[in-house]
Amino acid sequence: MSDPVVYLNGEYLALSNAHISILDRGFIFGDGVYEVIPAYGGHPFRINHHLQRLDNSLSAIRIKNPLTHSQWQAAIEHLIELNQLDDQSIYLQVTRGVAPRDHRFPEQSQPTIVIMTNTLKTVSAEKVRQGVAAVTLADNRWLKCHIKSISLLPNVLLRQEAQDHNADEAILIRNGYATEGAASNLFIVQQQCIITPPKGPMLLPGVTRDLVVHIARNKKICVKEQPITEAELMQASEIWITSSTKEILPVTKLNDKLVGNGQPGSLWQEMYLSYQDYKEHLRSGRALPEL
Ligand code: PDD
Repeated sequence: MSDPVVYLNGEYLALSNAHISILDRGFIFGDGVYEVIPAYGGHPFRINHHLQRLDNSLSAIRIKNPLTHSQWQAAIEHLIELNQLDDQSIYLQVTRGVAPRDHRFPEQSQPTIVIMTNTLKTVSAEKVRQGVAAVTLADNRWLKCHIKSISLLPNVLLRQEAQDHNADEAILIRNGYATEGAASNLFIVQQQCIITPPKGPMLLPGVTRDLVVHIARNKKICVKEQPITEAELMQASEIWITSSTKEILPVTKLNDKLVGNGQPGSLWQEMYLSYQDYKEHLRSGRALPEL
């Protein structure tokens, strides 16, 4: 669709008519937070989890959520209906609003709220089948990576550096430990046990990550939330990255070396199928499976 409808501060507008001030603190300082929520067959994926994380991000940067959860949900659902795309990716953003440039918070400002939706760009079937390449890079981001901040310059530079090495993702290393990807969470498999780093200020608490942990626990697969050293990452029999748009993606090459036998592993396969099952239930509006 060339001119989709977007939501801006309570109005539904054609993208070409949606404008914000150059004084918006999102533009000037990157002073805001965001969410990316996939929708399958018009049904947003784990919307309550995304809205809860939005609450957490907003309170961490001291912005009062301008909408209630039901207002967010209604606006998102209306936008999905207006745009009538197939599977969609909903992007929402809240900034501290428009004010003369000054680092300190303005005494009065109205948050700027944007919601837009695009066709969900899925990872190609070939990449899912073969796995992707990743490189390790130093995690040079700040110390509040649990906030889903729109200030993404370090992530942008890291992802581009990965791209420059012909890799799909950068796996970030801080003080000898792997934290997450530039735009994804990290899982490894070690002796048939799934390991992902524990939540904390060094990584984003991914909604997909939490579902993967939940599915694994329900299937009685061994899963541990514990730190992953760089050496453990290098020796892992499987590596996966997860995100709302990548789902669960196997990494089969790390720093130009094969991970395991270079093929997506059997635990990945099992988790991937359960994840697809969850998605298909959501898409068809049936009750979600007891995973
Ligand atoms: N990013 N870690 C980082 C740094 C991320 O940017 C993301 C997602 C994730 C995975 O979170 P979730 O499973 O909730 O999508 C982890 C989104 C998709 C983006 O910026 O486009």
